[in-house]
Amino acid sequence: MLYKKIFLDKMIISLLNQKGGVGKTTLSVNLAAAYSLQGKKVLLIDADPQNSAMDWATKRQGDSLFTVIGITKPIIHKEINAFMGDYNHIIIDGPPRIYEVARSAIVASNVVIIPVQPSPYDVWAANEVVSLINEVTEPIAELKNIKKAFVINRKIKNTAIGRDVEEALKMYNVPVLENHIHQRVTYAETASEGLSVLEMKDKDSAAASAAEEIENLSKEILIKFK
Ligand SMILES: Nc1ncnc2c1ncn2[C@@H]1O[C@H](COP(=O)(O)OP(=O)(O)OP(=O)(O)O)[C@@H](O)[C@H]1O
Ligand SMILES: [Mg+2]
Repeated sequence: MLYKKIFLDKMIISLLNQKGGVGKTTLSVNLAAAYSLQGKKVLLIDADPQNSAMDWATKRQGDSLFTVIGITKPIIHKEINAFMGDYNHIIIDGPPRIYEVARSAIVASNVVIIPVQPSPYDVWAANEVVSLINEVTEPIAELKNIKKAFVINRKIKNTAIGRDVEEALKMYNVPVLENHIHQRVTYAETASEGLSVLEMKDKDSAAASAAEEIENLSKEILIKFK
C-alpha cells in the first residue's frame, strides 16, 4: 500500500503531466535554482528515465546550486524519507507517461504542479493527470491534503489564448497559479549550459524577465501551499 510520512516543515513539489514536452524539466530546474538562491537546501529528484534533469546537471560547468539524483522506479515515496533531514525543499521532475512512477511522486508530494501549454490539446490532455492525482489521493485519508495546481507555461505575450486556456481549465476544479511562464528562448539556451535563468539575469534582459517570473512563481507556490 502507498503510505506517506508527514513532514510539516518540508516542501515537496512534483512537476507532473503525462503529456510530454510541457515544461516539467524546465520548471523543475528553475524552481530548484530559485529556492536554492533563496537560501534553501534543495534536492531535485529526476524521476524520468530520459534523465533530462541529470543531463542538465552534467552540462553545468560551475558549482552546483542544488543536488540532483535520479529515482526512476516507483519508490520515490519510500526513498524520500531518507533525504528529509538534509533538505528544505525537494522538487520531483516527473516522467511523461509512466503511471507508476507518477503515482509514487504524487504520494511523496505536498503539492503537485501541472504545467500546461496554452493550447486546447493541453487542456484536454490534462484530464489524464488530474484523474491520476484524484485516483491516488481520494481513497486514502492521509493523502487528501495533497494540493494540486496548474501553471501555464510558454504563454505568448499579447495573445488571448492564455486567458482562454485559463478559462477552459476551470472545468477541472484545480486552481491555476497566477504567475504564468512565458515563451522565451532563454529557457532553452540556459538549459543547454546547465544554468538556470536566474543565474543569467544580470547578463541578459530576456533572462532577467524570465528570472522574475520564476521567482514570483516560486514564492506563489510557497505562499499558497506551505
Ligand atoms: N517557457 C518556455 N519557453 C521556451 N521554451 C520552453 C519553455 N518551457 C519549455 N521549453 C522548451 O520546451 C521543450 C520541452 O520542455 P521540457 O523538457 O521542460 O518539457 P518536459 O515536460 O520535461 O518534457 P518530457 O515530458 O519529455 O520530460 C524544451 O526544449 C524546453 O527548452
Ligand atoms: Mg522532462
